[in-house]
Amino acid sequence: MSQAARPLTNAGAPAARPAVETLTSYSAPLEGRRELLRLDFNENTIGPSPLVANALRRFSSEEIAVYPEYDGLREAVVRNLTETGCRAGLQADQVEVFNGVDAAIHAVFQAYGDGGDVLLTTSPTFGYYSPCARMQGMEIEAVPYEGEAFAFPLAAVQAALTRRPPRLLLICNPNNPTGTRLEPETILALAASAPQTLVVVDELYEAFTGDSVLPTADFAATPNLLVLRSLAKTAGLAGLRIGFAIGHADVVDRVSRVTGPYDVNSVAVAAAFAALADQSYVDAYVAEVKRAREWTLVALQEADVRHHCDGGNYLLIWPKQPVQHVEAELRAAGILVRSMAGKALIDGCYRVSIGTTTQMQRFMQAFLPLER
Ligand SMILES: Cc1ncc(COP(=O)(O)O)c(C=O)c1O
Repeated sequence: MSQAARPLTNAGAPAARPAVETLTSYSAPLEGRRELLRLDFNENTIGPSPLVANALRRFSSEEIAVYPEYDGLREAVVRNLTETGCRAGLQADQVEVFNGVDAAIHAVFQAYGDGGDVLLTTSPTFGYYSPCARMQGMEIEAVPYEGEAFAFPLAAVQAALTRRPPRLLLICNPNNPTGTRLEPETILALAASAPQTLVVVDELYEAFTGDSVLPTADFAATPNLLVLRSLAKTAGLAGLRIGFAIGHADVVDRVSRVTGPYDVNSVAVAAAFAALADQSYVDAYVAEVKRAREWTLVALQEADVRHHCDGGNYLLIWPKQPVQHVEAELRAAGILVRSMAGKALIDGCYRVSIGTTTQMQRFMQAFLPLER
């Protein structure tokens, strides 16, 4: 049997699918960050609840040797969501657990995005949506945020939804990196107006705004809505990689079909049970970050530094000196921030994650002399 010749890479290795050949790998500069003040990836800056450390200390050799078991985890997520305001009467089959929300995003695209389908999203936004769309050979329509306040481009998104209903609409709320907030009612109305489109709401930072769609979502009436939540940013489990997708059982089932059977490991499962059982720890951390956010905003205002902050545990700063220089100087002082160089609309600024008030005081002490 003859086979059509398959393309090779320049070095003579088998080439991947055409959509993959044109991709550059999504690489975040993640090495050498420990021991530094990490204000670059919006992580929890103080670590998880002590219950998590206890659970990991009790982790047995047998648990390491056995494939992970997920019994009761979805129920624990539902209980936690209900405690924190979800009124949707969720059942366990409306939740899937992923190896971080990154893996959930990837799975959504694999399950729903075919070559030539359209992803509608905003710009600038979280950097992993576009590569996932490109992997599937999708077309990307990214509508820019509007004006100096980076307002959500509602009319343009509504027009795009009607003009050519996309396969996927991805809304990051609040948006990373602009912090732009969108009322939950507006998202629910967008989803109701576009039943053919899967509307994915990335709620990684909703704890800092309280703008979640979950308290009012009715997945029976709006089955095309999928919500993403993570234990990375508030509960402090970024290193263990655990996130959730919540929606109509049919959609959750489709997205689950493209994941491996044991993609979430046992250590993450043990930590997730402990983190979900200690909501008061998360609430206290979020309250401290909000206090630190207020303190930082006053300090920036008093120092007359151009900045932008809306929702989220992060803000944008336009330094007087070139951003690469400021990033390097801060790094030399043991503080990491993230340059937004090359990002649409916000080139020239950098993003600072907000930690505790003491950590933000340390940041300002290092940053303000660079403005003189
Ligand atoms: C908006 C947004 N979505 C998803 C992710 C990925 O979350 P996770 O760490 O759960 O994979 C991030 C991480 O920075 C993010 O900012």
